[in-house]
Amino acid sequence: MPKNKSFPRLPGFRDFAPEALAEREHVFRSWRRVARRYGFQEYDGPPLEPLELYREKSGDEIVGQLYAFVDKGGREVALRPEMTPSLARMLGERSRAMAKPIRWFSIPQLFRYERQQRGRLREHFQLNVDILGEPRTGADAEVLAVAVDALRELGLGPDDFVARVSDRRLLSAVLAALGVPADRMAATFSDIDKYERVGVDATRERLRASAGLAGRRVDSLLEILDGSGLDVVEELLGEREAVGASLDELQRYRADLTAMGLAPFLRFDLRIVRGLAYYTGIVFELFDRKGKLRAICGGGRYDQLLQRVGGEPLAAVGFGMGDVVLTELLRDRGLLPDVAPSMDWFIASVSPAQRLLGREIAHVLREAGSTVAYALEQRPVRKQLAMAARQGARKVILLGPEETARGVAVIRDMTHGTQHEVSLADLRLGSLAS
Ligand code: HAM
Repeated sequence: MPKNKSFPRLPGFRDFAPEALAEREHVFRSWRRVARRYGFQEYDGPPLEPLELYREKSGDEIVGQLYAFVDKGGREVALRPEMTPSLARMLGERSRAMAKPIRWFSIPQLFRYERQQRGRLREHFQLNVDILGEPRTGADAEVLAVAVDALRELGLGPDDFVARVSDRRLLSAVLAALGVPADRMAATFSDIDKYERVGVDATRERLRASAGLAGRRVDSLLEILDGSGLDVVEELLGEREAVGASLDELQRYRADLTAMGLAPFLRFDLRIVRGLAYYTGIVFELFDRKGKLRAICGGGRYDQLLQRVGGEPLAAVGFGMGDVVLTELLRDRGLLPDVAPSMDWFIASVSPAQRLLGREIAHVLREAGSTVAYALEQRPVRKQLAMAARQGARKVILLGPEETARGVAVIRDMTHGTQHEVSLADLRLGSLAS
């Protein structure tokens, strides 16, 4: 006989047994509550898209991680690695007819062939919240407020996480003021993006090679990147027109968030660049305060993407918040709910003669909305009670021959251990349903 084969799970993919699924649903429910509170409507799209959609729109990093193949019709397709290109495609087809601003949210499952590392898997779920059709900072502040509230709703506070905010326009203005030529901007952004990973010496070297930055100018840039807040930028380059204009926009943005009471979560930090190619303005990432985990959330403004996928020119801003790092953080803080099973009722029969009566009562209770379980086949009462406890039943209905002959059943309260009798007529009417 050939040996039975075992089938391990693919690396980077998760099973969601009931306890894990209950945790996931807890997070999703909080996300939905917050998004709806801010007036966002939920949408979804297909998990498989034309490969082309990501080739130019997402940037090299994500394209290198695509699950892509040729389908039976000869089309080049890819599992969605992010939602933003699908959103742009969907709205490109219909946004002209829609009232603006558009406020949409979604919770897609996404697929990226990532290198195995803590907090990064090959599939994850991501809350996506986007506002389209609003070019000024009111929309930027609004989406950041949703991101912060999505975490507050789960019990996290300003000691647990921080939103690091930057602005690509401001960074461009700073780099231009320091003499970085326009054709070196993208490479310089990429150097800054890697600053925290590679350290100061490697970054100095990279900036010299890619942007020709050296001497006092590279010192100024590093001072700006290391400085917390916008004061250093203001002090060094605030006089420059483009820098000053970007700083004014950021002050307006900060004022909105401060008015909402969210200032304690906010930190301006020009080291945040974001890897994706399409961002054009304010960008942000949310991190755990201790800085131990990968980003919980990332987003920003992408004003040109819709036009680039064939739609009307439509300003856009939004974020993606993943479930992987977030669930780790919630577990670490003891903020995941108790996911033990629970039932309203368990029906226990003393002998097979009560089987049909048990089924009848169970059905009446279920029709009335209660959760009800019982042993599918006759078991000793002792075992049935153990089953009731395992399933988290709050109350047990005991059906015995002597009691049913008197037209009653015994109800046992599993929490308090008390018992009392009720009439079968009442049970049949569903008047005890909880
Ligand atoms: P992103 O930074 O690539 O942005 O992903 C956003 C968040 O998704 C990350 O901060 C992280 O929590 C989670 N995430 C990403 N990749 C993985 C992974 N391999 N495993 C676990 N979690 C992951 C975007 O995807 C943009 N499309 C977000 C956006 C929406 N921008 C505007 N609108």
